[in-house]
Amino acid sequence: MLPYAMIDINAHVGNQVILYFRGGVGHDAIVGDGCMVLTNSSVGARCVLGEGVTIGSTGFCNPGIRIGDYAIVGAVSFAARDIPAHTTAIGVPARHVTRPAAPEAAATTPLGAMSWHPMRSCESRRDSPS
Ligand SMILES: CC(C)(COP(=O)(O)OP(=O)(O)OC[C@H]1O[C@@H](n2cnc3c(N)ncnc32)[C@H](O)[C@@H]1OP(=O)(O)O)[C@@H](O)C(=O)NCCC(=O)NCCS
Repeated sequence: MLPYAMIDINAHVGNQVILYFRGGVGHDAIVGDGCMVLTNSSVGARCVLGEGVTIGSTGFCNPGIRIGDYAIVGAVSFAARDIPAHTTAIGVPARHVTRPAAPEAAATTPLGAMSWHPMRSCESRRDSPS
């Protein structure tokens, strides 16, 4: 948990969660294991995030919505409604743009899921030959 991150009352935050600078979790929200709530993003009150969910920088989750396992809310996106598992949703309001096949690793541990995490994919792009 980085400085200025905030967890409101009665929120439950799982294991191996990364809450970046100015990330927020609203009251009575549940954040599953291995989630990443990136810089300046907010998980609204009573939201339920499954395992390995990523909320991109300056992403917002409407209070009370549910976000399925390993879903991604893109940077500067507003998740107004529930987002299914393994889906990437972007925009304001966020639309579901991809529904990737769940990688085998995602079925096991949150850390395994991070092998296809957006931050990790940036690294692999940097490493790949052009
Ligand atoms: C959502 C995300 C994971 C998608 O990554 P991706 O699958 O590699 O998608 P691409 O970059 O190929 O983009 C696909 C399309 O979606 C658009 N797009 C991507 N992210 C978007 C976003 N957050 N909002 C609006 N449009 C977006 C792209 O412009 C592109 O549009 P095009 O097809 O018309 O050219 C990524 O863009 C993202 O937002 N990651 C979070 C990064 C972040 O917050 N890092 C933390 C820094 S502190």
